[in-house]
Amino acid sequence: MPEPDLAFRRQHLLGIEGLEAWEILDLLERADAYVELNRQTAKKLDLLRGLTQVNLFFETSTRTRTSFELAGKRLGADVVNMSVGVSAIKKGETLIDTAMTLNAMHPDVLVVRHHESGAVALLARHVRCAVINAGDGSHEHPTQALLDALTIRRRKGRIAGLTVAICGDLLHSRVARSNILLLLALGARVRLIGPPTLLLPHVEGWGVEMHTDMRRGLTGVDVVMMLRLQTERMQGSYVPSVREYFHYYGLTYDKLALASPDALVMHPGPMNRGVEIDGVVADDIDRSAILDQVEMGVAVRMAVLEALTHRARGGN
Ligand code: CP
Repeated sequence: MPEPDLAFRRQHLLGIEGLEAWEILDLLERADAYVELNRQTAKKLDLLRGLTQVNLFFETSTRTRTSFELAGKRLGADVVNMSVGVSAIKKGETLIDTAMTLNAMHPDVLVVRHHESGAVALLARHVRCAVINAGDGSHEHPTQALLDALTIRRRKGRIAGLTVAICGDLLHSRVARSNILLLLALGARVRLIGPPTLLLPHVEGWGVEMHTDMRRGLTGVDVVMMLRLQTERMQGSYVPSVREYFHYYGLTYDKLALASPDALVMHPGPMNRGVEIDGVVADDIDRSAILDQVEMGVAVRMAVLEALTHRARGGN
């Protein structure tokens, strides 16, 4: 464990933006220890005993919601999954009123996913407890970037000096934004690859390379991070057809051959096989770290819960 004066001591985790490299490294160190714990038969600790965690998901989720629930329970917290579909939100209750209502029940941590960028930060201003952003619109998904970093670090032994390609629907991706910020903070080189309609605007000065030719962009990279085509966030047509998109931007062995021979393949999930990635590449256990990412997700969320409840557990 790090020295107390170099430990993550923020009230909330709303994004990677603004975090110092040492804060990210502190969370990764803590998560590393939880990976080993999660592989044992007895996984339960009582670090968060007596604390209450509420998971509030306004958008669908498999990985994030389940891993936050497991993370809280493995640390001994009481975990409540609030079901938005059967809540008073369906009767018109606002986000702020929902936040203040939950706050009155004295939770210690709120884990929130919302379809609007900025909604989680807005909610955090109306509660006293710790708030974790589990993904807000196309803004940020900080725990995804942390689990991706943990995956890369454990498989490659480092992050600094690696070249990471982030490919596909960058425009709508909160995963891409959080990953770019984190990878640059830890000294990686980042290449963004996608069709002109789906590249990120306003990234001049970030220190990233942009490519519309996937073959050129993948040349020599150490990590290939694929993104889902987020049709639910698209109004209008951004790609001519799924078939054409797969032809130019789908990850196949043919395109992967241009990356480093030991390049790691990643995808945050859920995957669209045959759209952004060929199923055989995704399932290749020698190249794909996609299920490692899921495993790291539980450990990272345990680390974040531990760090954010420091004060609630009596720390100063
Ligand atoms: N990667 C990710 O956020 O997946 P879920 O939508 O299943 O949580």
